[in-house]
Amino acid sequence: MPLGVREDGNVARRTTITTQVAIIGGGPAGLLLSHLLRRSGIESVVLELRDRDYTIQRVRAGVLENNAVQLLTDVGLGERLHREGQRHDGIYLQYGGQRHHVSFRDLVGRSIWVYGQQEVVKDLLEAHDAAGTPVRYGVSNVQLENLEDGPVIVRFTQGGGDFELSADFVAGADGAHGVCRPSIPATEKKALQREYPFGWLGILARVQPSTDELIYALHERGFAMHSMRSQTVSRLYLQVDPHEDISNWPDDRIWQELDVRLGTPGWTLKHGEIFDKSITPMRSLVSDPMRFGKLFLVGDSAHIVPPTGAKGLNLALADASYLHDGLVAWYRSGDASGLDEYSPRSLQRVWQIQHFSAWMTKMLHRFNESPDSDHLEEVAFDYQAQLGQLSQLCGSERGMAHLAELYTGLPFLTHPH
Ligand code: FAD
Ligand code: DHB
Repeated sequence: MPLGVREDGNVARRTTITTQVAIIGGGPAGLLLSHLLRRSGIESVVLELRDRDYTIQRVRAGVLENNAVQLLTDVGLGERLHREGQRHDGIYLQYGGQRHHVSFRDLVGRSIWVYGQQEVVKDLLEAHDAAGTPVRYGVSNVQLENLEDGPVIVRFTQGGGDFELSADFVAGADGAHGVCRPSIPATEKKALQREYPFGWLGILARVQPSTDELIYALHERGFAMHSMRSQTVSRLYLQVDPHEDISNWPDDRIWQELDVRLGTPGWTLKHGEIFDKSITPMRSLVSDPMRFGKLFLVGDSAHIVPPTGAKGLNLALADASYLHDGLVAWYRSGDASGLDEYSPRSLQRVWQIQHFSAWMTKMLHRFNESPDSDHLEEVAFDYQAQLGQLSQLCGSERGMAHLAELYTGLPFLTHPH
């Protein structure tokens, strides 16, 4: 075991580990990539900043595309998903107080699944436990070195000890605020981004869902959505100011606002105990390219989408499967083409989904100006134009088929090994 010298002069042990693929981040992207690689006989080590319970309890996305479900099923992760997840054959779009059903089954013959991201993470962790390939939790000070030539060196601290992980490649799956994207020199990448003047206040409530399918609603007072997690847990969202303080939203106010924005004649929203509440600002970002030397960005570390199209999690899973394919070709036959194509191939899909997510977001949210703004007439104009857009969409089978095609998901182009 080599000795290292700390800045304070104490001699400290530094443990050296070697693997084929170092994976930074134990979210869905990193865990799925590691799972796929293991099935293909490729070794990896996953480093995660937080502890295991935190990563399981973090409430996030809830919708899996058709192809994501297919992939998870093909690689042995579908058992609980098919038992406890809910297949949904459409969604409702609501505007002007009227609800319109968009039937994915009738329009494109596909469905989506409501299954919380936390559940996907739990299933992945169970598979890792069963295979004896645990994630290294509670790591800090992650630093990447030698990215251009390899082998990559990943230095990190865990439990007070210093470690050096040597790997052929590194997958940066450490989310929107990780260290991997910033490890690419500024001269080697461009980050294109866009912020929205609103966020989502999301709640989980112990109450039976008041709807059979998800409701996306545009109301004069802003966007609202009704989703769910199970027969006894509902997930609901409200458009709010991105800088809003959550303490301004006691439970009563949240239900009142949801009642107003989701209300339609003859329909009642069931209320229940709110047990999780948070506000997420909304933005879009793409880091181009998604590769620098031996480093490949995967999932939210490479791109962020506003959640209106329910795509963040699905994109992360698609990236993991693309990168897996490239790595398998490399390790099996020295063929680098899959790795070379990883970034352009992923980015093509990312931009298609960025457009869809921005389209859904702009169509369904109110772009309010402050009451003293000079642009109030434009705001009123834009709202009426959004109503026009929605009525055209809901009145057109082709329009709805376009939405259904993108919502249920683009092909993954993957080959499970
Ligand atoms: P993450 O899930 O973010 O995982 C990255 C992991 O890396 C984390 O576990 C993190 O702790 C770890 N990490 C970070 N830094 C380091 C480091 N330095 N070293 C080691 N590990 C590190 N999408 C939807 O479709 N619908 C939603 O409703 C929705 N809600 C969201 C709410 C929030 C608050 C956020 C942040 C995202 C939401 N998303 C939503 C997006 C969706 O959850 C993400 O797209 C998805 O989590 C991406 O998976 P990932 O594995 O790429 O990143
Ligand atoms: C959920 C989140 C989304 O962003 C979305 O578009 C649909 C559903 C959810 O958390 O259930």
